[in-house]
Amino acid sequence: MFKAPRGTRDFLPDEMRERRYVETCLRRVFEDYGYREIVTPTFETLELITAKSGEEIKEHLYHFKDKSGRNLALRPELTAPVMRLYVNKLQFEAKPLKLYYFGSCFRYERPQSGRYREFWQAGVELIGSPYPEAEAEVIVLAADALDRLGLKNYELAIGSIGTLRAVLEESGVKGEDQNPIMSAIDKGEGLQELLDQKNVGERGRRILMGMLELRGDKDNVISSAENLLSDSPKALKELENLKTLLAFLEEYGVSRYVLDLGIARGLDYYTGVVFEIYAPRLGAEKQICGGGAYSLAEVFGGKPVATCGFAFGFDRLVLALKKERKSIAPSASRGCLVVPMGEGMLSTAIKVSRFIRKNNLCELELGRRRLRKALGYADRRGFRYVAIVGESEVERGCVVIRDMESGEQREVEIEKLKELKL
Ligand code: HAM
Repeated sequence: MFKAPRGTRDFLPDEMRERRYVETCLRRVFEDYGYREIVTPTFETLELITAKSGEEIKEHLYHFKDKSGRNLALRPELTAPVMRLYVNKLQFEAKPLKLYYFGSCFRYERPQSGRYREFWQAGVELIGSPYPEAEAEVIVLAADALDRLGLKNYELAIGSIGTLRAVLEESGVKGEDQNPIMSAIDKGEGLQELLDQKNVGERGRRILMGMLELRGDKDNVISSAENLLSDSPKALKELENLKTLLAFLEEYGVSRYVLDLGIARGLDYYTGVVFEIYAPRLGAEKQICGGGAYSLAEVFGGKPVATCGFAFGFDRLVLALKKERKSIAPSASRGCLVVPMGEGMLSTAIKVSRFIRKNNLCELELGRRRLRKALGYADRRGFRYVAIVGESEVERGCVVIRDMESGEQREVEIEKLKELKL
C-alpha cells in the first residue's frame, strides 16, 4: 500500500465542498475590497526564496537542483513570489496595486495538527501606499473576512516591528544585522546572546526588553511605550504611525484587538506595523493569519515601494471553523437523479438527463439499480429530486418528478424538461 507523503493530505469530497465554500467566501471579500487575483509558479529560484525569508523559513525549505543544475525551491510562502512578479511585470501600473492569491505552500516542518508540509495560503498584498490608512484597511479586511465566515473565537494582535527596529538602530544595530535579533524574539530564544554579540548597551537593552513586555489594552500600551521611548525620536515616529492606524481602525469599528509590541514575526522583510490573528481553540498551532508592512521590491531589483499584506493559513482557518460548528458549508439538497425503470427505458432516460442538465445539476442512474435502491442512493447523496422514467408515462410523453423532501410526485412532459428549473 502506498501512503501520501508525511505532512501531506488527501481531501475527500465532503471536505473539498467545505474548503471550496471557505475559499469562495474569502475570494469574494478580497474582491469586494478591490483586490485582483494572480497566480505564480509553485517553485521559484532558491535565491529568491532565501533573499529575505529569515532563518526559520530557510531551515524548512524544500529545495532541489533540476536536471540543468538550477537551484530551485518549492515556495514556502507567496509574498516574495508576488513581489518578484510585481518587479518583473507590474511596476509601472497605477498605484495602489491590490493583488490576492490562493495557493499551496511547502515547508519541511514536523507535522502535527494544524502544521503540514503542504498547506494553503490565501492572502493579499497592497503595493504603493505608504499611509497608515492602507495598513488599517488591510487589517480590517482580514477581520472582515473572518466575520463574514462567521468565525467567533479569534484574537487579533497588532504590533510594530518598525518601533523595535528603530530601537535597535539607535543602539547601533543597523539593517540586516537586526534580522537575527528579530528572529530570536520571534522564537523566544537566544536573544541575550545576540544582544551581547552586537554590543547593545544597557540603555538599548532596557528599552528593547521593556517594549517586548508591552501587551494589552491600547491606551495602557501606548502610554507605557511613549514613556519608554521618550528619548528615541525615530521609534516615537513609528509609534505615532501605529497610533494613527489604530484611530483609523476605530473608524472602521474594529476595536477587538490587543496591542502587542513584542510581535517580531518569523520573516525578515517586515519593517513597520505587523499583526497576527489566533484561533485559541486550535492549541499549539493557533496562528491563522500573519502580516504587516514590509519592504522587498528593492531586494529583487525594483524601485523601493511601500507594501503591506497578510496571508491566512487556509487549512488552519478551516480547522478553526470546524471547531466552532458542525457544518461549515450549508448543504441544501439539490439536483436531480434520473432513474430508468428497466434497461428498455435507458435511451429515454439519457435524453431526459440531457434536458434536465441544461438548467440543473443532474445525474443519470449508472448502477442499473431498481427504483427502491436508486431512491436510497438519491437520499444519501442529497438529491432533491428524482426523475422516474417509466414505460406508461413515457408512452404519454412524460416522466414523474419526485420531490425527495416532501415525497410529492408530479408528471412533467419530456419536451418541457429543457426549460425546467428545479
Ligand atoms: P506566515 O506567518 O509565515 O506569513 O504564514 C502565514 C500563515 O500560514 C500562518 O499564520 C499560518 O496560519 C499558516 N502556516 C504557516 N506554516 C504552516 C504550516 N506548516 N502548516 C499550516 N499552516 C501554516 C507569511 O507567509 C507571509 N507571507 C504573510 C504576509 C503576506 N506578510 C505580508 N504579506
